[in-house]
Amino acid sequence: MLPMIQPPITAAERAVRHGHIGLIVWFTGLSGAGKTTLSAAMERKLFESGKLVYLLDGDILRTGLCRDLGFSAADRHENIRRAGEVARVLADAGFIVLAAFISPFRKERDDIRAALPPGKFVEVFVNAPLAICELRDVKGLYKKARANQIQEFTGISSPYEAPLKPELDLHTDRDSIAACLQKICVAVETHLKM
Ligand code: ADX
Repeated sequence: MLPMIQPPITAAERAVRHGHIGLIVWFTGLSGAGKTTLSAAMERKLFESGKLVYLLDGDILRTGLCRDLGFSAADRHENIRRAGEVARVLADAGFIVLAAFISPFRKERDDIRAALPPGKFVEVFVNAPLAICELRDVKGLYKKARANQIQEFTGISSPYEAPLKPELDLHTDRDSIAACLQKICVAVETHLKM
């Protein structure tokens, strides 16, 4: 006789095991706005407070899962679709997923939100003016984009659609990293209780 198939493990059971529910905190913004800095600091903070947390970063995913993709609108669409799927699986497993992608198109971000239960998608707009990101030019990419050595660069030769109603709108040009992290902490705590 075949053994009885066990019922699937529920989100509630996982939440009891981990001490919190899973959710996605999605960082969007221009290159150089501060997505990686904030999300990495946030991952460390949550990890040290005992949370099950995982950071998905565009630069890293593009070396593996998305290494076949470039920066055309179609490739960015596919990049974000894959990132959203991975984030969703991890959130379903109970992780607090921090996702840091330019994710320039509103529809793709909204599609990920729509695929999740209400309250499980926290959109963080890492909002720094293009001029500031260009001045920072941490990776030297803006200089190359201006010199036409890189095509379809976000903010220069490829569009960025700002969120209309993000859960958080962080002005990294005006507020300190610590102040931004504090706001993210409050938003995460609030959503963990929802
Ligand atoms: S997204 O638009 O598809 O969401 P993603 O976040 O994965 O982009 O990757 C962005 C990173 O790729 C940037 O931080 C930068 O280091 C690098 N990059 C290389 N070429 C480009 C480009 N044309 N536009 C934007 N970012 C680029």
